[in-house]
Amino acid sequence: MNINLQKKSAAQAAVNYIDEGMIVGLGTGSTANYFIEALSKKIKAANWHLTCVTTSTKSRQLAESLGIHVVSIDDVNHIDVTVDGVDEFDPQLNGIKGGGVALLFEKIVALSSNKNIWIVDTSKKSDKLGSFLLPVEIIPFGSVQLFTKLSQMNLKPQFRVDNQNQKVLTDSKNYIIDVDISHVSDIHKLADTLKSLTGIVEHGLFLDLCHTVIIGGEHIEKIDR
Ligand code: A5P
Repeated sequence: MNINLQKKSAAQAAVNYIDEGMIVGLGTGSTANYFIEALSKKIKAANWHLTCVTTSTKSRQLAESLGIHVVSIDDVNHIDVTVDGVDEFDPQLNGIKGGGVALLFEKIVALSSNKNIWIVDTSKKSDKLGSFLLPVEIIPFGSVQLFTKLSQMNLKPQFRVDNQNQKVLTDSKNYIIDVDISHVSDIHKLADTLKSLTGIVEHGLFLDLCHTVIIGGEHIEKIDR
């Protein structure tokens, strides 16, 4: 089964975790988009009343265009379940997110969720995190100083740029620096170090946050933490 069909089947399987009346977090990215589409069909077919919060402007726009009721995260007191994609995950269900630039809102929503489900194709599975560059969201002021610091830490930083070579801006108007963590053995220590650096808003290491991964394909595989 090709990658897109794998993503779609994982997204469809995740709809089974949703029920009438829930508050649902909607992730960002191509796999999360399949989930938003599948969920909107289920809401219409079952005549559900669901409330959703989103992790990016793109996801909010897609959800609203499909008739999903979206509110601000600050208008809910909990989130029952969030369904999102991930760029890479390991056997402990730790992951790297932020390939789609939405890591900050994604992490805020994940931290407020009672259950986090990642929906993936088979390419996202990894024995050790680091094949995918780790996105780090930083404020523009002093970003070159921070870049130098990350170079000194041997993390081979690169500013994320668009096809006009302009620095990519997040929904919060910050920059993304992608760093190479392939040689890092202690990801929890790295996560703490990155959080301690002034100017870094958030990084894309999602550790001990995911409860279930659904891997799409002919046979859907579910892994629980
Ligand atoms: C968005 O910032 C990311 O965290 C996405 O969830 C991740 O990049 C997965 O994207 P795809 O579903 O498009 O592979």
